[in-house]
Amino acid sequence: MDTDLLEETANFLVGPGRGILAADESNGTMSKRLEAVGVSSSPESRNAYRANLFAMPTMSEAISGVILYDETIRQQAVDGTQIPDYLTARNVLPGIKVDTGAKQLAGHENETVTEGLDGLRERCAEYFSMGARFAKWRAVIRIGGDLPSDACISTNAHALARYAAICQEQGLVPIIEPEVLMEGEHSAQRCFEVTALVLDATWDACKTQGVYLPGALLKPNMVLPGKGHSQRSDVETCAQMTIDLLHNHVPKDIPGIVFLSGGQSEVEATAHLNAMNNMGPHPFELSYSYGRALQASTLKTWAENQDDLSKPHSVFAHRCKMAHLARFGNWSEDLEA
Ligand code: 13P
Repeated sequence: MDTDLLEETANFLVGPGRGILAADESNGTMSKRLEAVGVSSSPESRNAYRANLFAMPTMSEAISGVILYDETIRQQAVDGTQIPDYLTARNVLPGIKVDTGAKQLAGHENETVTEGLDGLRERCAEYFSMGARFAKWRAVIRIGGDLPSDACISTNAHALARYAAICQEQGLVPIIEPEVLMEGEHSAQRCFEVTALVLDATWDACKTQGVYLPGALLKPNMVLPGKGHSQRSDVETCAQMTIDLLHNHVPKDIPGIVFLSGGQSEVEATAHLNAMNNMGPHPFELSYSYGRALQASTLKTWAENQDDLSKPHSVFAHRCKMAHLARFGNWSEDLEA
């Protein structure tokens, strides 16, 4: 394991004012997103949207890495070069989603285990040779009734740790993503308790598998009530609960936390990150690995203006700038106007 390379990559990804753009939607998910804005989904339309997204002139001021999907890492950028080469030339590291999706967990209704360990070593080696320097694996944990089960937590933690160890052996920094879903009627306190259990199990499994924590990043959910809960958390409450969780359930040698947005609006996800960074200093960088919270308004604008990229580019530049400011706790709501 090249621990120097892993540390260098992990620290680069959470460098000052920058974070990760998650553009690794599977073809199924991306098709839903495109169809929702009236664009039919094909390899060409997915490439058109993403290649133009990556061509936004100031992207690298806020984006240190982009997570790609297997289809995208093999496609071309606007200048005809391969997308990973194009990103690298712009000082943005290419990353790759390496799980093959959340599948029904046997004997556990409504729960999943994320798959993709078979052949992972060979796939990581190929992605590294194509320029990828980090990877993502998303485990999905659902709250509700008696859920999550111990089986769901332990199988997902085991898979995350096995994935992380294989990635590190192959020179890729693993983003460890155990997402506790916002779907459900649970309180923020329940989200806190379940996320704490999931994180503890994940670090136990990482220890067993020998994962090198200074060369890994954590991608967690924030602590929020379920979408169906009667009360919403205000920004300060979400930020304080999430900070309490992370300070008590994340080893200090993890260099950075890169949050998922998980269905929060663009402004909510930005406000929460901003508030947390204002509560520092923290033992780790607090950054983003947002999908929808960086792309939602840009995708909509692109769909309406495919012949005039200045409009989607200015919308994406704005979201990038807001996220960049939130890294320093310098964002405020009036900047959104
Ligand atoms: P969202 O920010 O839209 O939740 O996506 C992040 C991600 O990559 C989920 O795996």
